[in-house]
Amino acid sequence: MNAGTVKRIGELTGGGDAPGLNAVIRAVVKTAANHGLECIGLEDSFDGLIEPDRSRPLTPRDVTGILRLGGTILGTTNRGNPFAYPISTSGGTVDYSSRCIEMFHQLKLDALVVIGGDGTLAIAHEFSKRGIPVVGVPKTIDNDICETVNTFGFDTAVSFATDAIDRLHTTAEAHHRIMIVEVMGRYAGWIALHSGLAGGADVILIPEIPFDIEQVAGHLIARERWGARFSIVVVAEGAARVGGARSVMKEAELGTVERLGGIGAIVAADLEKLTAKETRYVVLGHLQRGGSPTAFDRVLATRFGHKAVELLMEANFGQMVALKSPYIVAVPLETVVGRTRNVPPDSDLLSTARSVGIHLGSDPN
Ligand code: F6P
Repeated sequence: MNAGTVKRIGELTGGGDAPGLNAVIRAVVKTAANHGLECIGLEDSFDGLIEPDRSRPLTPRDVTGILRLGGTILGTTNRGNPFAYPISTSGGTVDYSSRCIEMFHQLKLDALVVIGGDGTLAIAHEFSKRGIPVVGVPKTIDNDICETVNTFGFDTAVSFATDAIDRLHTTAEAHHRIMIVEVMGRYAGWIALHSGLAGGADVILIPEIPFDIEQVAGHLIARERWGARFSIVVVAEGAARVGGARSVMKEAELGTVERLGGIGAIVAADLEKLTAKETRYVVLGHLQRGGSPTAFDRVLATRFGHKAVELLMEANFGQMVALKSPYIVAVPLETVVGRTRNVPPDSDLLSTARSVGIHLGSDPN
């Protein structure tokens, strides 16, 4: 396809929701309309291409007022991989990819904007390889997608977690307690690290640095000795002890990935024993995914949506829009999928945290 041949764009949101999805949907629709292109919203991720009547036209009128809303007006799912669609009755999977391609043509679509995390972008890449013109838009509160400095949703999640830590500080101090805050992030420690730094945590435990609970307890006891009678510990859901396994709430099953969680309770019980200090924990969970996106996420999401339409108009397919500060750029989907962006060991976030006295679970050598 040549530049200027995309006239009708299908748009979908896949995977777990993240604040800013609606801002992207709105930006795509408004930018497309400005260039005389039509938009069709596909419901519940790729289900919109698998099942009939799961799509609807989106005009600027349909997206007015959604910029500040969390969630997604199109709905989403993290169970609907069309290449291995789970069938609950048989316990097996079916490949619905050809059906999706047929539906794409039936709906007279010229291209797709796929807004999602690593799993959804991998599906987008598969369709791209099968000849569907696709542009991906990276979303996740975890901020773990490669080749982009930021995904939208992350800033909102960090702001929420920081506010929660601020609130815990006052009650921790009043009761001379240790408070543990478990945050999301899957296998990356970005949310824990950013919210812990912003909230002034005393300990931050992330998946990238296996922790030694005795060392953590030693740090908290030392704080007590110099007169700090309370402590805040931020623990990422994917953090694990040295030589230990991650805490899994639910094993992966057909069409789903494992559900992490529970490490906050474990760390709390261990620290109470080792420090002899009253210790409580709180799990922020899906609250981190809810609510209105921050100004940063609204702007990033809007820039991503605009860039996605630009790429389609240039017939630059198989790309993901990305933030390479200060620019929004295109990166090939194939360089993104199957990889996770973790906190690198030489990140200045780690050295900064240590320099302000935050313990990261294991004393640096
Ligand atoms: O990827 C976003 C995320 O919120 C992770 O931080 C978390 O582990 C996971 O999704 C939870 O997924 P679900 O909503 O399916 O429980």
